[in-house]
Amino acid sequence: MEGAELLAQMRLNGAVPRHIAIIMDGNGRWARERNLPRPLGHRSGMKAVREVVEGAIEAEVEVLSLFAFSQENWQRPLLEVNALMSLLQEYIAREADELDARGVRVRILGDLSRLSPGAAAAAEGLMTRTAGNQRLTLNLFISYGARAELVRAARLLAGDVRDGRLALEDIDEDTLSQRLYTSDCPDPDLLIRTSGEQRISNFLLWQVAYAELYMSPVLWPDFTRRHLYEAILAFQARDRRFGRVPV
Ligand code: IPE
Ligand code: IPE
Ligand code: MG
Repeated sequence: MEGAELLAQMRLNGAVPRHIAIIMDGNGRWARERNLPRPLGHRSGMKAVREVVEGAIEAEVEVLSLFAFSQENWQRPLLEVNALMSLLQEYIAREADELDARGVRVRILGDLSRLSPGAAAAAEGLMTRTAGNQRLTLNLFISYGARAELVRAARLLAGDVRDGRLALEDIDEDTLSQRLYTSDCPDPDLLIRTSGEQRISNFLLWQVAYAELYMSPVLWPDFTRRHLYEAILAFQARDRRFGRVPV
């Protein structure tokens, strides 16, 4: 089926996921298959980011969360880390106008204190500029690890209890969720990972508790909005039971 047909089918089926999260994987292998250096795989992955942002807007998804750089990715060779950081800045510089014009609210989430001052300033600038947009929330996870996010939330809770802002008995799933980066988003309904890997790699551990998982063999730079629609169609065929008996 073509993209437009898939989109029509998706609308016929009814509800699309409110929040889609994607582990964008396979840039390195895409480059290796072409005898190119890994950074060129990452560069090529930017096109796929554009595709899924546009696809998510067309599908009327509310929140798109993209895992772009993990806390563990800091352990990669400096050359690759630097290439990824300059690509982030380039992405912001190139896409800011378009994202803003399309009504995308961009949030860059993770330990931004480890970013270069230039990259951190660009990230802050884009977040401020697009803060009032309402069509799609695009969460870009950079320098992010889910365990670190949970440790941060635990510290925030402990600080609030110590300072008398929160009673110990009031610590529950809601008060913890409110201290995660994603506090104002619904949990992901659908988690996509590209490149055939079958793992979570420390992404949104708390939030994906009941997400439907969709593993695609496609390498990230080859991922198009058609692939996104196929994932949504697969999601629509799932039976989400949340521990209950099927109706
Ligand atoms: C995903 O592609 C991008 C990042 C993790 C930054 P990879 O760079 O992990 O590509 P593979 O897994 O080596 O193919
Ligand atoms: C996960 O991909 C992180 C991102 C996509 C940003 P990795 O390629 O780093 O994960 P592992 O090492 O295969 O688990
Ligand atoms: Mg990888």
